[in-house]
Amino acid sequence: MIRASRYMVLLYASMAGVPAMIFLRVVFGIFGMASLQDAAGFLAGVGLVVFGIVGFVEVYAHPQNKHIEQVNEEAGEAHVLSPGAGRDTIVMSISRFAGGGKGIEMKDYRVKVSKFTTVLEALLMIKETQDSTLSVRYSCRMGICGSCGVVVNGKPSLACELNAEKTAVDGCVKVEQMRAHPLLKDLVTDFDDFFAKHKAIRPGLYRKDGKEKYEAKKEYKQSQEELNRFLPYSYCIMCGLCLDACPISNSNAEFLGPQALSQAYRYYADSRDQDGKKRLFDVDALKGIWGCEFAGACSHVCPKGVDPASAIQLLKNEAAKSILENGE
Ligand code: SF4
Ligand code: FES
Repeated sequence: MIRASRYMVLLYASMAGVPAMIFLRVVFGIFGMASLQDAAGFLAGVGLVVFGIVGFVEVYAHPQNKHIEQVNEEAGEAHVLSPGAGRDTIVMSISRFAGGGKGIEMKDYRVKVSKFTTVLEALLMIKETQDSTLSVRYSCRMGICGSCGVVVNGKPSLACELNAEKTAVDGCVKVEQMRAHPLLKDLVTDFDDFFAKHKAIRPGLYRKDGKEKYEAKKEYKQSQEELNRFLPYSYCIMCGLCLDACPISNSNAEFLGPQALSQAYRYYADSRDQDGKKRLFDVDALKGIWGCEFAGACSHVCPKGVDPASAIQLLKNEAAKSILENGE
């Protein structure tokens, strides 16, 4: 079937053709060419009819020109998150916390998605139209807040950053809760321990003169080189994906984990910070930098390119240098 939007070619052709034929009919009339005059008149008439039909189709019958609710109704699943024609149905297989001693079970939902629908939007469509008991955490919907971390098709990911259609394997997207964090409900996990570890590395700038915190006596300028030392590590949005991908964090609850350790390096490497010695001391342990076996999965899944694995190796390097130089 010809799509209505393709009629636009006919519309424009008839819009240009009708005046052209009328003009030719006048010219042929002036030169007494009766048969050509009749042919031009006939073509002008055909053009007028085509213009009328195509104009009607575009204005009244094209789905994009209807009110979106009417389109949704025709599609069978009304929602306001991903308007637009041409939706495909995918299966969202979601881990649900069943309760009643049943533990976790996978439940399938069929969802109509457009080419722009994200995995997070597909989850919210299910919540709005099929099962309001589904729990999912999110806020910004644009990869900034770090709230919507889940495991999609086996990989820790931000649900709002994945296209549902492109992520589907054989028409199915598998969404599970992150495993390095305790489960609260469905796709929502508890970040208390994660934040406690982040707090433990003292995220902030420390000066020898504590009063500077309240009364800065000068500008703390940095060269581009000094900034570059820590800048990539400062892009962390605390989504916890790196922790979920880390095999050590998944097997040793004491391990500070890639997020906290990368932030320890972020502040250690900042030229405005004057507490480097204590920072190194705090992470120089088996539950700190020496627990890392450099699997590199943390850097692989980080949505912000923070590269926690390299930060941990740089901290190991600093700790080894400190032992060689000072014997401590
Ligand atoms: S380092 Fe990357 S993956 Fe880990 S919490 Fe920060 S932004 Fe998320
Ligand atoms: S909702 Fe904020 S990062 Fe996904």
